[in-house]
Amino acid sequence: MSDKKSQQLWTGRFSEATDAFVQAFTASEHFDRRLYRQDIRGSKAHARMLKAVGVLTDDECRAICDGLDGIQADIEAGRFEWSPALEDVHMNIEKALTDRIGEAGKKLHTGRSRNDQIATDVRLFLREEIDAVIHQLRRLQQGLVSLAAREAETILPGFTHLQVAQPITFGHHMLAWYEMLVRDEQRMNECRARVNVMPLGSAALAGTSFPIDRGLTCDELAFDRPSDNSLDAVSDRDFAIEFCSAAALTMTHLSRMAEELVLWASPLFGFVDLPDRFCTGSSIMPQKKNPDVAELVRGKAARVQGTLTAMLTLMKGQPLAYNRDNQEDKEPLFEAVDAVRDSLTAFADMVPNLSVIRERCYAAAREGFATATDLADYLVRHGVAFRDAHEIVGRSVRYAQERGVDLAELSLDELRQFSDAIGEDVFEVLTLEGSVAARNHLGGTAPEQVRLQIEKAKKRFS
Ligand code: ARG
Repeated sequence: MSDKKSQQLWTGRFSEATDAFVQAFTASEHFDRRLYRQDIRGSKAHARMLKAVGVLTDDECRAICDGLDGIQADIEAGRFEWSPALEDVHMNIEKALTDRIGEAGKKLHTGRSRNDQIATDVRLFLREEIDAVIHQLRRLQQGLVSLAAREAETILPGFTHLQVAQPITFGHHMLAWYEMLVRDEQRMNECRARVNVMPLGSAALAGTSFPIDRGLTCDELAFDRPSDNSLDAVSDRDFAIEFCSAAALTMTHLSRMAEELVLWASPLFGFVDLPDRFCTGSSIMPQKKNPDVAELVRGKAARVQGTLTAMLTLMKGQPLAYNRDNQEDKEPLFEAVDAVRDSLTAFADMVPNLSVIRERCYAAAREGFATATDLADYLVRHGVAFRDAHEIVGRSVRYAQERGVDLAELSLDELRQFSDAIGEDVFEVLTLEGSVAARNHLGGTAPEQVRLQIEKAKKRFS
């Protein structure tokens, strides 16, 4: 027997050592070592359960748990020697355990398989990561609400088709972002509920002949319940796909915010100034201040969408139960977890600290005939049918445009050329302040509504 062969834990039925390339090709230890804490936690719970049902003695269980604690300390101190010949995180730890405590170590794997073990590890891991993602989501939500409070009355142009449409309040815009993130949080919570089911005890695929007590391991690992079907529990990764889907949607939202921040921070818009500490300069153009963090968040959205495609495609051709294909779920999942958590963290730090250049926002809203709809609505209130009002205002806009002025800058006589329904009071609706204040109903952009929504949001955080 070669050295290599003797390291592996399943060589009994093999007559030759694994091909060196195959060994490297099948190894996952270099990425799944990230699950060492969950793997050790699951193993300790399993050992304690085996003791409780009489499969392990007290001494064996104690040796196993102490040994696993020692291994965890070694890993965390950087003293642990990972070996690709031992394939994955599970066998690296199990082999180290046996090296450390002898015979008892060999009994740990009684009544389980790496198939239920990895499914358990990934669920424990994802549960923690979802909590971290939710924490960052809520930090960003709170930041947006405080920015909305600061800028509840600030006027900026609202766009459709990226053409100036109607004046809105900056606070209202921030609360639109906030709403997206509230739904993202709901999706994460719903995903968490389906993640939090325990596969351990399913063993390889059919369960085990040992008298296991899944209630014990379930309580110790704080899962909501043990899974009801062993074939399903070891094989499906729908919970991870669901996470990637929720993460992809969150990233899509962050990417849309990023896009607006990039535009707004451009001197051509000049609506906001991003804190210097979140921007970088150019190696050649001294005047540049680039919104790289926002751009990277927009870029990482692509990466996370890729993980969803990878995970869906990974699953679709698999017959029941476990297949090694599932080893390919780890890297995309880790990628999605890291990208969404880091992007949220970056935005939670950056966005509430941007400064709004109020004069620029205001000037932009004045330039684009943003109160044209208000003039049409005014005409309707004075007896003109909406279609006719639309036509009248369209002609007024063309007239103002030719003279290079805003509607509010036309004289009453000039406006009355287009309709004699127009009176002196028209100028109240042509101001930006009047326009936003008039949209004072649930969901509208009026500062008063923004403040009501802020109060509602604050209740979620108390
Ligand atoms: N590394 C494997 C995975 O990530 C662990 C389970 C391996 N099971 C097996 N029978 N080869 O899915």
